[in-house]
Amino acid sequence: MIKSKLPDVGTTIFSVMSALANEHGAINLSQGFPNFKIDERLKKLVSNALDEEQVQYAPMPGRLDLREEISGKIFVQRGIQVDPINEITITAGATQAIYCAIAATVSKGDEVILFDPAYDCYSPTVSLHGGIPVHLKLSFPDFHIDWDEVNSTVSENTKMIIVNNPQNPSGSVWRQEDITALEALCIKFPDLVVLSDEVYEHIQFTGEHISVLNSEILRARSFVTYSFGKTFHVTGWKMGYCVAPEELTNEFRKVHQFNVFCVNNTMQYALMKYLSTGDEWKQVVELYDNKRQLFLEGMKNSRFKPLACDGTYFCLFDYSEISDLPDTEFAQWMTKEFLVASIPVSVFYADKTDNKVVRFCFAKEDETLSKAIEQLCKI
Ligand SMILES: Cc1ncc(COP(=O)(O)O)c(C=O)c1O
Repeated sequence: MIKSKLPDVGTTIFSVMSALANEHGAINLSQGFPNFKIDERLKKLVSNALDEEQVQYAPMPGRLDLREEISGKIFVQRGIQVDPINEITITAGATQAIYCAIAATVSKGDEVILFDPAYDCYSPTVSLHGGIPVHLKLSFPDFHIDWDEVNSTVSENTKMIIVNNPQNPSGSVWRQEDITALEALCIKFPDLVVLSDEVYEHIQFTGEHISVLNSEILRARSFVTYSFGKTFHVTGWKMGYCVAPEELTNEFRKVHQFNVFCVNNTMQYALMKYLSTGDEWKQVVELYDNKRQLFLEGMKNSRFKPLACDGTYFCLFDYSEISDLPDTEFAQWMTKEFLVASIPVSVFYADKTDNKVVRFCFAKEDETLSKAIEQLCKI
């Protein structure tokens, strides 16, 4: 038998809750995927790509025409120049970008700081490469980074710090002071590498999204990951990209080329055409803000208490007035008895901290959200 390299990893809670939701015919607000139709224009471009036989391997770093479109979009959005040749790599979703960034950087014994509650792929990927995940906690209930704690934790052994803004699962977003604090840390530790997961960049409801790309100091040492899946409601395509300075990109691509070599050319072509002939990404925030407001408004009539939701398509609710059950049991009970599936937030903590909070995904048809609200108000 082989010795497991990830002995503590089992089936993720997302699969468990989705299976439970299916078994009971429950409304699935657990896993983060939209259930509404995608833009017809994008669909048409995929079919055009097939008509044009765009079906063979793409170049290893991704199609240059797509990378140029991404660079143009970043310029329009943030006013900064990113070199499409040396600083952008197209990946199989942000997940593969995160994998390559960690694999290219982290060696045995390196410490990597991450913040719980954390998106689930960071820590196992660090472990797989012999790194030591150092889990710090975001403050509760507003989920901000305690930079004093970070400063007293980072040492010469720290190779990387992984940040996520807007943050899944909490929905918190960065303030300028977070950028300033990270800059100060990076000046103190010049070899520290930043992995900034910004897949929800277009889903921020309060203020403008602040990317590490907007800081010269941070940009020079960061891998920044993005996801077309999140932005254009096509999570199943697993299309994303990584922006990083040339030196980091070179190392990133060494892993990428033997990990997948290149990603889906048909979808790259369609996305390139989509970006070059429209700016639908500008409308994403309004779409989700309407859904967020619908959900929060409806939930006012329930016994759940909302936590702040400034970004992402998730919102957290405190259920302590309803039940004393641990959050995993509560989420399962609610799925079986009230037919709405959620994710218990303790699963995002290495030490399973249970604040009696569950996460709902509101990237759903308004009708689905209304039905879920009706059920949740019965509890
Ligand atoms: C914070 C965060 N990062 C990365 C990903 C993965 O993105 P992709 O589906 O493009 O791999 C997700 C998806 O849920 C996410 O929530």
